[in-house]
Amino acid sequence: MHFSGICVYLCPSVAKPNPIIAALDVPSAEQALKLVGQIAFAVGAFKIGSELFMSAGPDIVKKIRATGASVFLDLKFHDIPNTVAKAVASAVRLDVQMLTIHTSGGLEMMRAAEKSAQDMAKSLGLPAPLVLGVTVLTSSNSDTLAETGCAANVGTQVERLGNLAVKAGLRGLVCSPLEIADLRQFLPSHIQLVTPGIRTGAEKADDQKRTLTPREAMQAGASWLVIGRPIYAAENPRAAAENFLEALD
Ligand code: C5P
Repeated sequence: MHFSGICVYLCPSVAKPNPIIAALDVPSAEQALKLVGQIAFAVGAFKIGSELFMSAGPDIVKKIRATGASVFLDLKFHDIPNTVAKAVASAVRLDVQMLTIHTSGGLEMMRAAEKSAQDMAKSLGLPAPLVLGVTVLTSSNSDTLAETGCAANVGTQVERLGNLAVKAGLRGLVCSPLEIADLRQFLPSHIQLVTPGIRTGAEKADDQKRTLTPREAMQAGASWLVIGRPIYAAENPRAAAENFLEALD
């Protein structure tokens, strides 16, 4: 949606770009490609995280891109600016449409990541991928932040890091569903928000403590919805993906 370079699949029911990103949190290329074949028609992009990338390598990105599907590479880079810039450049060479970095890496690191994405994409004649900033992991609370020397509570820290990401030129953030409305209060409207923790209510929440339905999340201002277990671990992933699509109506 409002984002050049990503394949846009139209939701049959709502005739809008499809905001569903299916997380391929499976351990092998074989399982991932099977899922892609089953559900590509119902999703807007596929997310490749550390588990799949570490077992299947960059080749899985190429194979999924070869099907025409868009790829969100979720490896959450966090290192010195030069190293992150080079990792981002490598990701752009794989022609991914979205990727993640940790905003806690700081302004210079984020600027280096965004610049590298823009420069490498330009040199290859590709649209620049959306570099998404991860603020505070949803597994963290104020105690976790305090352990690492951060005195702020989670809300304050998310706001601080969100503003820093915007200052660095990032065009998107990953956030928890319950942060969307607050972030929309102060972020520029062009910032895209990607949120996991989406459940229709018909399935179990797994370990996601704070969930919204697809419609609630979109109404709150989400741009993209990351859905993992409810689709990939479903008895019938195809039907599950269709259910999520319908739940957007
Ligand atoms: O299975 P489930 O729908 O909970 O999967 C959510 C996906 O989003 C997983 O790939 C998980 O790593 C990712 N994610 C998350 N919470 C965050 C950031 C990413 O659940 N804060």
